[in-house]
Amino acid sequence: MPVLSKKPVQQILTVLVSIALLVITWNNVVVLNSLKSLPDKFAVVEDNEKSTVVVDTGHEEIPCIDLKAVQYNRVEDIYCTVLPKFLPNLKNPCFYILHQFGMKTLRCLPYFYIIGMDKSGSTDLYSRLTQHFLVYENLGDLGKEAQFWSWNRYGISHKQKGLRKYTLEAYMEMFVKLARIIYIQNITNAISGDASPMDIYDFRSWTMIPQNAGLQEPRILTPHLMKHVYHNVPPKFIIIIREPIERLYSDYVFLEYGNNTLDFHHHVVQAIRMMEDCLLKHSKRFCFFDDQLYQQLPVRIHVSCYSEFLKVWLQVFPRSAFHIFRTREYTNEMETTLRGIFTFLQLPQVTQPEMKNILRQKRLHVTAKKTGTILPETRTLLRSFYSGCNEELASILKDERYLWLDHYS
Ligand SMILES: *[C@@H]1O[C@H](CO)[C@@H](O)[C@H](O)[C@H]1NC(C)=O
Ligand SMILES: *[C@@H]1O[C@H](CO)[C@@H](O)[C@H](O)[C@H]1NC(C)=O
Repeated sequence: MPVLSKKPVQQILTVLVSIALLVITWNNVVVLNSLKSLPDKFAVVEDNEKSTVVVDTGHEEIPCIDLKAVQYNRVEDIYCTVLPKFLPNLKNPCFYILHQFGMKTLRCLPYFYIIGMDKSGSTDLYSRLTQHFLVYENLGDLGKEAQFWSWNRYGISHKQKGLRKYTLEAYMEMFVKLARIIYIQNITNAISGDASPMDIYDFRSWTMIPQNAGLQEPRILTPHLMKHVYHNVPPKFIIIIREPIERLYSDYVFLEYGNNTLDFHHHVVQAIRMMEDCLLKHSKRFCFFDDQLYQQLPVRIHVSCYSEFLKVWLQVFPRSAFHIFRTREYTNEMETTLRGIFTFLQLPQVTQPEMKNILRQKRLHVTAKKTGTILPETRTLLRSFYSGCNEELASILKDERYLWLDHYS
């Protein structure tokens, strides 16, 4: 049998390597040339992202962790991903992903977020906002909830775990509607938002963030990750907040924890006891962000303690990045509230007939089950449980309306 001598093998290898090198070089030339000659509406900004970031508060250096060294069950390390440099001539944060042969795709992150609260009117609010001619829906649930930052990134949902994990890139695919409009129609001031009301409070996956490994309490949470991705132009945050006790009951019924006010009462008593037990041994931050306790609670008692969550966000982003108001004002003064939001989002105001159409839309997502009114005993317990939270909220927001006294008189 003829055996190939060493020489021909080497020659073949050399030829193969040369071809490979040529192909690589040629591709790069093509990509570079096409970059130079982009016939472009939008400028491309080069990327030279560092692998660490200084978070504003505490001026802490947050390291990027080598993913190969990170356990396989942890999520992608956002501090290690190549970060976008947003196109300067677009209002919405978008950038090009460059492919071979000069192909490129426009990808966008949301310009604004409605991060809360659950059962406070965020669905209704979002659906009215997207009737503005410059605001485009996303591809999430109800055209609204991408559920990325607190759930899909980690492959969890309210009660489930181990679901498919989404990458940041997959998240950006949820905003292709906007990307297409911008790219095809050159509407440079079009924007999109993400209204995932679990994002403000659901920090249960903090243990899966590589930078928190081994810690007793989290150092890095969703707002830190967002801040890193958005650089120095923070997104705009809208928060609609309902009176905590009504919100809790609505949440309880909606998630089918129970059906009537008597069950609600028993579950509230039980949940308060469980939370107080936890707080004897741990901090609020620990108990409120803990997955194990969350799974056991018969009603999500902590979610209505808004100040504990809001504090985390305000440690990372300036107060001016937030537009916060109550459900009652939204309901009673909808036009004023909507116009206030358009101003906050730096959108042109809609005309009076357009506003009329937006206001005419039926209220969305009102939990309609007939379940009776909350018992006075339950109210007394909950008012006591939330009094510290409400005082803190009113103090943070410098607004006494968050003591909810107009709801209690
Ligand atoms: C796209 O729109 C911007 C701003 O409205 C304008 O300055 C620019 O010339 C437009 N580009 C094209 C290719 O139409
Ligand atoms: C609520 O009612 C439904 C049917 O009316 C029942 O199937 C369900 O088990 C009840 N849930 C609780 C927590 O009692």
